[in-house]
Amino acid sequence: MPEQTPKIVELKPNIYQIRAVRPGSHVYLLKGRWKNVLIDSGMAAGFPTVRDCLAEVGLRPRDIHLIILTHEHFDHIGATAVSFDTAVVAAHRFAANKIQLQDEFVMMNKYFDLPARPLHVDIWLEGNTRIELGNFSLSIIHTPGHCSGCISLYESANKLLFTGDTVLAGGVLSDVCPSGSISDYVNSLERLNTLNVQELYPGHGRISTTPSEDLQRALRKARDLLEESKILFEALDTKATFKRLFAAARRFPTPKKNDLPL
Ligand SMILES: [Fe+2]
Repeated sequence: MPEQTPKIVELKPNIYQIRAVRPGSHVYLLKGRWKNVLIDSGMAAGFPTVRDCLAEVGLRPRDIHLIILTHEHFDHIGATAVSFDTAVVAAHRFAANKIQLQDEFVMMNKYFDLPARPLHVDIWLEGNTRIELGNFSLSIIHTPGHCSGCISLYESANKLLFTGDTVLAGGVLSDVCPSGSISDYVNSLERLNTLNVQELYPGHGRISTTPSEDLQRALRKARDLLEESKILFEALDTKATFKRLFAAARRFPTPKKNDLPL
């Protein structure tokens, strides 16, 4: 019989990855000394898997105290609205605003023809917010680019970086979605490049054990896209072509399969 890939993996003591139920995102669990935290919740349809994985490490959904959303896209937040009604929910204020107002154009749930669900965000984060769990300390880094409300989380004790869709293993970048910006992407990657990171934990695909190389590669790609966009826009001659060129300029080269974030 083929060996089954485990759905929950302990990456470090008390840090787990619950693997994505596609097309949803990975979910990360940090068992803190005082509080249990999820980074993203995945899609609503993936909740039974998340619940079963939590049970494997002795937790129930109600034992999750805090859910930190890396950004406002539906594949990262969907289960939060339907299945974790006792947890405090935190997101960057640019993401929180869109989630609270159910800005479906930006949240991209219509991409999979899924309904937006009312979700209350309790804590509207700013960059440099620190979340102290006793055994872990998470620093919030605002990393807009993929969209405006993206954050990455840096865990300084183990030098880990949780990146959501901002950067994936191999330096893969996400599309610049509605509310995103290529120049913000460049700036965000420049700041992430200054960190001392041992392992990179993205929202999709494999983890990275070569974060320095991957972040540098990602930064080169983002700078290249910015330059290519400038060349593209200089070539514009009529308004009729603007929309198609605009859409093309927001797409990074297609990554390998299994690495496609939303
Ligand atoms: Fe996304």
